[in-house]
Amino acid sequence: MNALIVYMSHHGTTEKVVTTLKRQFGYNNAASINLKDGFNADLSIYDTVIVGGSIHAGRIQKGIRIFCNQYSEELLNKRLGLFICHMDQEDPEKEFEDAFPEELKNHALAKGLFGGEFLFEKMNFFEKLIVKKITGETKTVKRINHQAINQFAVEITD
Ligand SMILES: Cc1cc2nc3c(=O)[nH]c(=O)nc-3n(C[C@H](O)[C@H](O)[C@H](O)COP(=O)(O)O)c2cc1C
Repeated sequence: MNALIVYMSHHGTTEKVVTTLKRQFGYNNAASINLKDGFNADLSIYDTVIVGGSIHAGRIQKGIRIFCNQYSEELLNKRLGLFICHMDQEDPEKEFEDAFPEELKNHALAKGLFGGEFLFEKMNFFEKLIVKKITGETKTVKRINHQAINQFAVEITD
């Protein structure tokens, strides 16, 4: 396996998930790129590409959406995995549905809804206000779904 994980992360939770995936694949078998640092990798050298980000106000990062549209042709020729980090528990499937283009979702071998974290110590004033208002949470909450990550890793390597 030669995998590339392309991701974006606001407070570091998606980054943690990416590290977990790389550990599961074996560090020699997986590289990662945070789109915040730009993207100039050669996709042709990877057999597997995983794309993921986190949901804020119902949407995945704009950079992930642009990447998916820009590289959809290449992604359709890879073993593809797609995932989101999220804290919504009512309808995360809808957030996943809205996060990625239809053709990529249809092509993906693995789809991950990995949960997430509210890291109050990393939030700015407005983020704290929004999270408190919408969820009632006032302290850090960690709800990463490690079982879902394991399952995803199995599905993409199978
Ligand atoms: C301001 C704010 C808005 C958020 N909005 C949503 C949301 O609409 N839906 C959701 O499922 N999670 C939402 N979340 C939870 C994030 O998806 C979660 O914190 C995730 O773990 C962030 O990962 P990151 O640190 O990699 O960006 C929100 C979090 C913050 C701080």
